[in-house]
Amino acid sequence: LPREYYLEPEIYARELDSVFLRQWLYFGHASEIPAPGDYLVQEIVGESVIVVRDTPDSLHGFLNVCRHRGYQFCEETRGNLKRFTCPYHSWTYDLGGRLIRAPSLADGASIVYGDWGLHRVHLEVWKGFVFVCLSEAQPSPLAPELSRHSAQLARIQPERIKKAAETRYVINANWKLFLENYLECYHCRGSHPEFCVTLSVAKQYEELFTARNTVAEYNGGTLKLKTGMQTLSMDGRLVSSPLGEFRMGELPDAFSVGFSVQPALSRISFHVDHGVVQTLRPISENQTEWINRWFVHVDAEEGSDYELSELVKVWDITNRQDIHLVERTQRGVKSRRYVPGPLSPSREPAVASALQTYLTLMGEE
Ligand code: FES
Ligand code: FE
Repeated sequence: LPREYYLEPEIYARELDSVFLRQWLYFGHASEIPAPGDYLVQEIVGESVIVVRDTPDSLHGFLNVCRHRGYQFCEETRGNLKRFTCPYHSWTYDLGGRLIRAPSLADGASIVYGDWGLHRVHLEVWKGFVFVCLSEAQPSPLAPELSRHSAQLARIQPERIKKAAETRYVINANWKLFLENYLECYHCRGSHPEFCVTLSVAKQYEELFTARNTVAEYNGGTLKLKTGMQTLSMDGRLVSSPLGEFRMGELPDAFSVGFSVQPALSRISFHVDHGVVQTLRPISENQTEWINRWFVHVDAEEGSDYELSELVKVWDITNRQDIHLVERTQRGVKSRRYVPGPLSPSREPAVASALQTYLTLMGEE
């Protein structure tokens, strides 16, 4: 892309509307809000979003914006409530988002409560993974897209996992520079010695980073391991107890499964013992948040089944290396003389296809 795509606030503003407010974005895992009344609040591309469990089987997404005067009524980032009461003037909403009380404003007298429910956010839960979409229009359903990846994913029993760790990295670069870095392994052998102990760069190119696989908004996102490696870790040995159907002594070799949504990247990637969910969130045209959440078996215990430091180590090291690469790229792209160079058709096809998807969403192709 021309350099202005990485620098201009005006293009960034259009991206929020055309990409981030249109695509499905990973929000969290159902196990984080297991009981009715449990809720989570997250800032997502400039909106404060609440996901709450209403009944054992239903989750809702709302904007954290009171319909009276706009107060962000949910002040904690997680908790358990029977109803939402705005602290400002005590308008009260039930867990389904309906206005049920507004002091001195009787229903049907000066206002009709039914007109003043919370703004809803589209929400889908797929195998326990909760996605939201911030568009006002109805987005196309997510489940049919992700179901294409469900056969292998079922083996890890994704409803039987829990979050063990979360790290938020702030990157001083445009989000697309990080996306581009993420979608090629041209740089892996030179920059990621720890990652390349277990990652098979060759398989990655044979099976994954091909134009055929990466043009789409939704695609398989497995990380291919070298033969003989049990998991993605510093040495290929397990970092937690086996997930799902897997049993010690009978583990498949180099197992990996996953999927991703792009270019507003949400990437879910699992091995026999753990998984990582990675999401890219722009903060501004030159700052980006990269959130990594590590998952283990729901019954795994820290200290006996896994050590936190080992669980997160290889991705944490790799993320920091990538952030260094991308921040220096941003500085180079700022140069008045920068023009984009050619992409390698064999090593960077996924970058080209992701940018193609991006331009289509932006209405420029
Ligand atoms: Fe929420 Fe007034 S702003 S009750
Ligand atoms: Fe990298």
